[in-house]
Amino acid sequence: MIKRYSFGGGILEKIKRVLIGEADLKRRVKELASAIEKDYKGESITMICILSGASIFFADLVRELDLSVQFEFMSVSSYGSGTVSSGEVKILKDVNHPVAGKNIIIVEDIIDSGCTLSYLKRILLQREPKSIRVCTILDKPSRRKVDFKGDYVGFEIPDEFVIGYGLDYDGKYRNLKDVCVLELTEE
Ligand code: PRP
Repeated sequence: MIKRYSFGGGILEKIKRVLIGEADLKRRVKELASAIEKDYKGESITMICILSGASIFFADLVRELDLSVQFEFMSVSSYGSGTVSSGEVKILKDVNHPVAGKNIIIVEDIIDSGCTLSYLKRILLQREPKSIRVCTILDKPSRRKVDFKGDYVGFEIPDEFVIGYGLDYDGKYRNLKDVCVLELTEE
């Protein structure tokens, strides 16, 4: 599967291959939901979706959970653009309700440098939740700049630029059903 897109500006965006297909994503989401159900049996949880990348994974994951779940949404930006995270984080949208005393699960699409989640976890811990864990569908451990480990991890992936299943390049490709590898070349 190779698709090439030209949007002008001298960069050719090429979808090189599927890294993780829809069926494997579905299967793994169910497994992650089972693990969460087992750990939180009889408890309520607040799932915090980190916009925008986690939106698709979040929607799939919460529907597999047979638990009492509340939704929250946060939006954070790492300063800078393009394919590399800068390490600095800013909260653009915070949760709507206090999280003190709640079981929190932060839901992310990917852990890369670890800066975003390490910052978010630290900020949320200061609000004294009952517990806090992190669930991500993708993890690139080879890219860590800070020591960070997800509690529920879907797939460890190599250091390739991935799009789809919520992940974007320049705001595009989030709606692809598969996680794909994107290659950028000069036109
Ligand atoms: C991505 C991803 C994580 C973060 C991970 O967000 O959703 O939040 O980068 O990178 P890190 O581990 O290096 O901090 P992005 O800033 O691209 O925003 P998006 O979710 O809106 O695509």
